[in-house]
Amino acid sequence: MSVPANLIDGRAIAAQIQSELAARIADLRKRGVVSGLAFVRVGEDPASKVYVGRKEKACAELGIVSETHVLHEQTTENELLALVTRLNGAGHLHGILVQAPLPRQIRESVIYSSVSPAKDVDGFHPVNVGKLMLGDATGFRPCTPAGVVELLQRSGVKTEGAEVVVLGRGNIVGKPMAAMLCQKGRAANSTVTICHSATRDIKSHCLRADIIVAAMGVAEFLKADMVRPGVVVMDVGVNRVPDLTSKTGTKLVGDVDFQQIQPIAGKITPNPGGVGPMTIAMLLQNTVRAAEQSIG
Ligand code: GUN
Repeated sequence: MSVPANLIDGRAIAAQIQSELAARIADLRKRGVVSGLAFVRVGEDPASKVYVGRKEKACAELGIVSETHVLHEQTTENELLALVTRLNGAGHLHGILVQAPLPRQIRESVIYSSVSPAKDVDGFHPVNVGKLMLGDATGFRPCTPAGVVELLQRSGVKTEGAEVVVLGRGNIVGKPMAAMLCQKGRAANSTVTICHSATRDIKSHCLRADIIVAAMGVAEFLKADMVRPGVVVMDVGVNRVPDLTSKTGTKLVGDVDFQQIQPIAGKITPNPGGVGPMTIAMLLQNTVRAAEQSIG
C-alpha cells in the first residue's frame, strides 16, 4: 500500500534532528565534554520501562552517556529528593529526567521543583515553565510540545496568524503547547484556543481551526465531522484500548480517528511514528544544549 502524501513523518524528521545533534555532540567531545543524562524511574510501571528504554537507546546511538537509577515502588519522597540532589551536583551529568508517573506517596511537583533548572531537560521546573511563558529562550521547553512545533516548522506549516485549537490543558503538553504557539516569533504567532473537559462546544472550536493539536487522552476523540477539509492535525495521544484481534488483547491508539480524518486533512501525524519520536529528539536536543551551556 502506498503512503498517503499528507503524512508528517515524525521518524524521518527526528532522524534528521538527531544527525544535526551528532555534530554538536562530537564538537563537545573535542572540547573535552561528554554529554551525560540521568534517568530516574520509580517502581515498575510497564509503559515507563518502555519509554525509558527507548530514551536510553537513543542516547547510546548518539554518543550521549546515560545512566538509569531504578528505585523501588515504596521509595519515599525524601529518598527520591536525596537522589536528585546528588545528581544535581554530579559534574558528568548535564540533564536529569525523572520519569512520570511517580507512585502516589511522591508529589511530582516537589520532585520537578528539586531538579536544578540548568539540568531540567524535561522543562518541568517552575523556572523553566516561567521562562516559557515570558518567551525567554534560555529556558528548557517541554519535549513533546517542542517536538510538535518542530514538526510543524519542518513540514512547512504556516503558524503565523493561524487558528490553533489545543485539545487538553495538561502541564506536560496542552498548556506549554499553547504558550509556545501564541508567542511572538518564528514558528509561533498563532491565535490559540485551549479546549478541555468543561468546554461547552468543542466541535464548533475545532471547525474553525487551521491546526488542531490533540492531547487530551481520549481514544480516537477527533472525528471527521469535527474538522474542516485541509486542517493540519497533530496527534499526541497514547491510549491503550481493547483489541480482540491482537495477541495482548489491547492496542495503542491516538486521540484522533486517523481512518476518518487522514483523507480530508491537509497534513496529519501518523500514530505511532508522528509526535512520539520527536519527544525523544527534543530530549536529546535539550541535553546537548545543557551540555553546551555547562561550558558557557
Ligand atoms: N511521562 C510521560 N511523558 C513524560 C515526559 O515527557 N517526561 C517525563 N519525565 N515523564 C513522562
